[in-house]
Amino acid sequence: MIRRQFLARSLSVAVASLFARGAFAQHTGHSMQGMEGMGDMPDMAGMSHAKPSAEKPTQVPLAAHDALPAGAPLAELRRLTNESSEPRLFRATLIARPAKRTLLSGKPTTFWQYNPPAATAEQGPVIGPLIDVREGDTVEIRFVNRLPQPSTIHWHGLPVPPDQDGNPSSMVAPGATHVYRFTLPAGSAGTYWYHPHPHMMSAEQVFRGLAGPIIVRAADDPLAAFPERHLFFSDLKLATDGTIPANDMMDWMNGREGQFVLVNGARRPRITVKEDERWRLWNACSARYLRFSPGDGQRFVQVGSDGGLLEKPRDGLPELLLAPGERAEVIVRAGSTPSQAALTADIYDRRKMAMSEGSLPPEPARVLADVAFEPLPAGEAGAGTRAIPETLRSIVTFPAPVARKSVVFSEAMDMAAMHRPGASAHGMPAGMRFMINGASFDPERITLTSRRDEVEAWTIENRTDMDHPFHLHGTQFQVTGRERGGAVTPEPYRAWRDTVNVEPGETVHIATVQKMAGDRMFHCHILEHEDLGMMGTLRVI
Ligand code: C2O
Ligand code: CU
Ligand code: CU
Repeated sequence: MIRRQFLARSLSVAVASLFARGAFAQHTGHSMQGMEGMGDMPDMAGMSHAKPSAEKPTQVPLAAHDALPAGAPLAELRRLTNESSEPRLFRATLIARPAKRTLLSGKPTTFWQYNPPAATAEQGPVIGPLIDVREGDTVEIRFVNRLPQPSTIHWHGLPVPPDQDGNPSSMVAPGATHVYRFTLPAGSAGTYWYHPHPHMMSAEQVFRGLAGPIIVRAADDPLAAFPERHLFFSDLKLATDGTIPANDMMDWMNGREGQFVLVNGARRPRITVKEDERWRLWNACSARYLRFSPGDGQRFVQVGSDGGLLEKPRDGLPELLLAPGERAEVIVRAGSTPSQAALTADIYDRRKMAMSEGSLPPEPARVLADVAFEPLPAGEAGAGTRAIPETLRSIVTFPAPVARKSVVFSEAMDMAAMHRPGASAHGMPAGMRFMINGASFDPERITLTSRRDEVEAWTIENRTDMDHPFHLHGTQFQVTGRERGGAVTPEPYRAWRDTVNVEPGETVHIATVQKMAGDRMFHCHILEHEDLGMMGTLRVI
């Protein structure tokens, strides 16, 4: 609370906008000049000459909450084409580059996109194409960076070798090409995603449009009979002139939440459910928590988490919280009579900081999609209830841990530094510190060291006033318990996860093991916090 009073006394809106503008000019100014495709980015062209100064920046207001069309049928995800004809080899190319798309009529927006379709083609959603592969496949992705910044591709949640995982230390320069190659082991079936991971630029690259889904399938999937639907949730902040604004002070502090939540690239789509379906959900928002609720007393079944199927289905759920970075698989029942429902992101208070004293109120509930249940008449293929096996798969019980690790989230605000004119480093406001074990990320420092194949018990403690989603690279972990005031509540179900929310004052206990030597990242998955240094390096030896 002390920190918040601090902010109340010292911050002003003018300071906040100065940061946003000065910071942006500093890190884009030189690198943007003469870049292909930059001429069509009015926001950047104007910014590249801006000096960090006290002059009042012209802030373009944000578009209205309903400025984007709604109500279209849910778009199908585009698929990344396999260029290989060899069995068990998935070979493809991902090109990241600026691309113009018109979402607000007459006001084109320049996104950064993976493999944007030609302007004349049926354009599809502004998210990366789906990588749909199988356990045992070798995946070889040629990444071409046509962005004005260095980038990497990180395979969020997948057990890929450390040197193939798009670590911040493995930057791919603008104009350069890099080939990622890895083989998907047995047991890795699940719902994953890919996104850039360059240090201090991940947030911007994701909010400009770079992120895409991955599905790894098992040969013996017990739910293979269910028709599948994909809902990839992303966040978009759009100005009235169609530009995507840079992060402002509040975005850096709390994590960016735009005025739009998109489902497969569109606002509030329409979904018609005629038979029981398996839905895969991705929370690819930079900072927004999605507390899914189908409303009206509707219930659903959770069958999967980040790393694939649960051990046992969780039936009768009225809601499910997905922190940024998390995924889930659920079974949605068509029911026996027609009905309507609104898939809603319910109110969730993640205790965002305010510029004035205390916390910001949580966002109001918002409808993400409209769902019409139109069950098929009895007798038609797909009609009636599809059975879900009582056991979906077995998930190992880890043996007793041989090592322990402690991760502590903390934050600090340095008002003097925040007020220095033009105070920013690498495009971010100075003075805001988000830390792990007392320090912000330093690429030269190894935060923790683990031994290969050793089972470890980690505790992740949140000593800040707001929620932070913890994410660990290179493996899946099991949450074993949640501790508050010294009392540990065991986790009631067994699941593989790579991201878990940690509330203020809470300590989450996990069990995990790393199987490959090399450096792994762990961090808060609010991407602004990650960029500001709430990240550490785990060296596996
Ligand atoms: Cu989704 Cu370190 O990332
Ligand atoms: Cu990751
Ligand atoms: Cu955070």
